[in-house]
Amino acid sequence: MDWSERLGGLCYGGDYNPEQWPEDVWKEDVELMRRAGVNLVSVGVFSWARLEPAPGVHDLGWLDRVLDLLHDGGIRVDLATPTASPPPWFGLAHPDALTVTHDGTRLTHGSRDTYCVHSPAYRAACAGIVRTLAERYRDHPALAMWHVHNEYGTTCHCDHAADAFRIWLRARHGTLEALNDAWTTSFWSQHYSAWEQITTPRATQYLPNPSQALDFRRFVSDAMLDHFREQKAVLRELTPDIPITTNFVLGDWVPVNHRRWAAEVDLVAIDHYPSTDPPAETAFAADLARGWAASPAHAPTDAPAPCPATGKPWLLMEQAVVTYTGPRMRAKRPGEITRLSLSHIARGSRGAMFFQWRASRGGAELWYGGMVPHTGPDSRIFREICDLGALLPTLEDACAAPVETGAAILWDAEANWALQAPGLPSTELNYTEAVRQAHRVLYRHGVTADLVHPSADLSAYPLVLVPSLYLISDADADNLRRYVSGGGTLVVSYLSGIADEHARVRLGGYPGALRDLLGIRVEEFHPLPPDVALTLSAPDVLAPRSTSPRAGTPARPPTDEATFSGETTFPGDRPETGTFWSEHVHLEGAEALAVYTGPHTLDTPLSGQPAITRHPYGSGTALYISTRLTDDAYARLLGLSPAPVELVRRGDWLFAVNHGDEEHEVDGERLSPGGFAVRPHVERG
Ligand code: GLA
Repeated sequence: MDWSERLGGLCYGGDYNPEQWPEDVWKEDVELMRRAGVNLVSVGVFSWARLEPAPGVHDLGWLDRVLDLLHDGGIRVDLATPTASPPPWFGLAHPDALTVTHDGTRLTHGSRDTYCVHSPAYRAACAGIVRTLAERYRDHPALAMWHVHNEYGTTCHCDHAADAFRIWLRARHGTLEALNDAWTTSFWSQHYSAWEQITTPRATQYLPNPSQALDFRRFVSDAMLDHFREQKAVLRELTPDIPITTNFVLGDWVPVNHRRWAAEVDLVAIDHYPSTDPPAETAFAADLARGWAASPAHAPTDAPAPCPATGKPWLLMEQAVVTYTGPRMRAKRPGEITRLSLSHIARGSRGAMFFQWRASRGGAELWYGGMVPHTGPDSRIFREICDLGALLPTLEDACAAPVETGAAILWDAEANWALQAPGLPSTELNYTEAVRQAHRVLYRHGVTADLVHPSADLSAYPLVLVPSLYLISDADADNLRRYVSGGGTLVVSYLSGIADEHARVRLGGYPGALRDLLGIRVEEFHPLPPDVALTLSAPDVLAPRSTSPRAGTPARPPTDEATFSGETTFPGDRPETGTFWSEHVHLEGAEALAVYTGPHTLDTPLSGQPAITRHPYGSGTALYISTRLTDDAYARLLGLSPAPVELVRRGDWLFAVNHGDEEHEVDGERLSPGGFAVRPHVERG
């Protein structure tokens, strides 16, 4: 089954919650959807209480009428299973199925996502409502896709969860001896002499065990995946030709390993709500989704992943018409909805969907916007929604070819979780921010990057960036060696390759997994306070050298020659700065491209020591950055020149999006502020 074909052209629409509105609004909804060019809506995401008002009592007549109306209007349905929000009667009947937080508080109904995936009662209730829906709508002509649950992410610490965790641990570690060793339980007298003694990492007196915390995150992801699989099995049995997905939520709190999950869905769907830098955040989210979509179907986690160019489809399932920025919402700027949607589509999304179709008049998210805002269709938002709906069908040809990329950045959920442990050398360590920086640097310099797992086949990439990959397995470290010895250019930044898969330090000098590849040995870390910036200079500032250092010019020509400036020197005419982090690096085969030259104090004792190094390895080169560079310095190290507009190539087509306030020229044509162009690509030069 080609799930992509089943979905037709680019998908356009959003979450449609007719249960929030009287029936006379539904007809207007369909008329407006047609006017806006909507062709797909996600229905019933949180409608369990309406579908099953009392245990085993179903009321589906209203949903029949909604689906019929949509079908008559030519709109396809991504039908949700409503299991992310069990009705109040359910929690009252099964209090043991309500979430328990890590401090032992049992939550009460009244919001959403208050469930425990380990509770037998919850699992049975989910299986029941899913079967009821699938039996009722299996032959409905509007049914185009299943939307299982919503944004999996609820972590529970109840006794059901603890039982399931122990079963998972037995499968992972085999014996208690192996678990005690992996978790280093000899520290603080944590040795377990029976499986029953182990719980989830509940509130405890001081620092929790980091290896236990890491295994718990892995377990929660796997346990929720089982819950997804259970629903998927029912849906597949009754509707074998209908694609099945679930919408991934992005965020550091999310206990889901999306790469593993991507192998289980027919289409990878993400929800994306950028906040402070929407264009760069959008490119990052889209490139992540494309990377997940490339995960090989049903493969074990340690199997090599194929190049993302050949992945399964992915879709922006939710975005908002407003921007949530923390303390306050921001209305999207004129054209911003289209520009960000276009950026997702350029980077591979099968369309652009929203939360939600019609802004709610009440309920918790009444101010979260809608394609039809509170004002109604006579509004700037709705006019822009109609414009975007008219644009999408014209992009089909441009979306036929795969996204062209010029670099890869490694991303691993488990490394992220490991770097969220307490007790690390700095509480300010932020893996996601380090990866985002690497991505932002490439993005702002016109290099489209794939975000891939460290086990992925990297051989097609001229350049691979490895930001702060704290935890890495032996097999993945070997994969990096293979890549460089085959001719690749690898740029590794601080705190990578430090820990094994149990979050234990690799001994003998950091970064234990990558010392030979990088030709260095790091003796000590010197995290820097926020007000300290170290100066980085060329080594010949201290000792004259016969040749000037050449930076990380990629070993093979990049995909987009125009974005790389070729051979460069680093640092250039002026020194650069390093902040946040520094290290005492010894050269063991590498050469220093830059050294720390000040300030020299007792707290920053690294003057003259290597800060950035380069090491030839096989036919390739491995660079190491032991501090946080500015974005500009990072780009100079890579020899990149700025690209003022977002450019993405797909085969013969070029997507150009000008997110800024100034006019720019692209391929000899002017692109106005806020403007965009999707057109056949004219070869430069
Ligand atoms: C998520 C959820 C939606 C809604 C939006 C609001 O994406 O899936 O149900 O809560 O956030 O931004």
